[in-house]
Amino acid sequence: MADVVNSISAKLRISPTLEINELVLKARAEGKHVIHLGFGEATFPIQQDVLQAHRDASNETSYMPVGGVEALRESIANFNSDRLGVEISPDQVVVAPGSKPLLFALFDILDGAVLLPRPSWVSYEPQVLHAGKKLFWIETDPVDRHSITESSLLSAYQKAISEGCVPRIMLINSPSNPTGHVFSANCVQTIKEFCKSKAITLITDEIYSDICFDDAQKRISAFDRNADDSETVILTGGLSKTYSAGGWRVGYAIFPSSPKGETIRKTVLAYASECWSAASAPAQLASVKAFSTGEAMRSYRKSVTALHRYCTRRLYSALKGLGLDVSEPGGAFYVYPSFSPYVAQLHKLGISTSADLSAWLIRECGLAALPGSAFGEDDDGPLHGRFRLRMATSYLYFQNEADRYERGYSLLERCASGEEIELPYLEEAIRALENAVQKLENVGY
Ligand SMILES: Cc1ncc(COP(=O)(O)O)c(C=O)c1O
Repeated sequence: MADVVNSISAKLRISPTLEINELVLKARAEGKHVIHLGFGEATFPIQQDVLQAHRDASNETSYMPVGGVEALRESIANFNSDRLGVEISPDQVVVAPGSKPLLFALFDILDGAVLLPRPSWVSYEPQVLHAGKKLFWIETDPVDRHSITESSLLSAYQKAISEGCVPRIMLINSPSNPTGHVFSANCVQTIKEFCKSKAITLITDEIYSDICFDDAQKRISAFDRNADDSETVILTGGLSKTYSAGGWRVGYAIFPSSPKGETIRKTVLAYASECWSAASAPAQLASVKAFSTGEAMRSYRKSVTALHRYCTRRLYSALKGLGLDVSEPGGAFYVYPSFSPYVAQLHKLGISTSADLSAWLIRECGLAALPGSAFGEDDDGPLHGRFRLRMATSYLYFQNEADRYERGYSLLERCASGEEIELPYLEEAIRALENAVQKLENVGY
């Protein structure tokens, strides 16, 4: 059956995120209790006006325009203009069923090899490879696994050239999935200048940009007012994270107004017209409200950030207290610890990769977290990149849908106003982590 699918598609695998879900379900079916830190799905209750707008639009059954409803493109343009202090026209915006298909389209239609920071979100690498492109990793800071220097950019670029490839595409993601780190303005500037000097199109995935723990960092973006026609920066974002509406499938890309930006935008539109046609009509109409810069949505975004900040920092402090190698996240809802301080014990247990470690944690400690290798980490490489796990805090709030809506709004409000809150599932996860580290300590050297 080897030739039923073509050789590129034969390499596609179920995304590790979905794979870990299956492992969790299997363990639960065997009667084991598993705490799920493996899936990055935001689960806060949807803001009421947005929810109502979706209900009101449920009779909208027509196909929407390929690039998105005009009012939504306007709302997205305004929202990002306001955030970044850049003039953005609704004509620069393309809406799609999630930002994932837009990223897929961009990797497919743009020309040249691709540069990606190591580690990077699980889907970029398969998307790049599926587009038949060569990928070159940019090595990041050993401590935060995020920051990029000019020399690491140059070294990835030169490696590509030495293999006969010319990088023409680069992607950055800040705040980052998996590390939770936010690029400094200086780091973004270095990356921008490098891309400009090498005629590289820079895609900046800002799906977590509202969830910056320090407010001022929300405005750090490669899509800034210093852009001129000699650089090409494309910004992507969406509804899934800030608004906890991943299943509604609304994402967007904003293209520069330069001739090159226009060519890419029109090609993406043509691609969309032959592939997904348009995003869901009710979800688009509800999203007009979600991206509003009015007081109700501002306040919702503020409380969402406050709750993610509280929970993610608490998990970070616990991991640090347990002696793991972890640096403090500045946004999103992830921590990215390394168990390398326990390398001797891990080897004694026969654990030699991040995937082994992830499987051991599920099996022996009832904790699910994604291995660093799913994000491009080299399990045979330097110690700082090995034994990394990405832990998501998104499932630590509610037991089920009813619980989400019964307690969710007041939890968001109380956290935003600085009141004491309790997150029993977070505390349970911390106890399970303490237990895991205790098990490692018991192994001895
Ligand atoms: C870094 C990053 N980019 C993009 C996406 C895709 O989001 P969506 O397709 O829901 O817009 C995700 C989702 O997990 C993500 O973590």
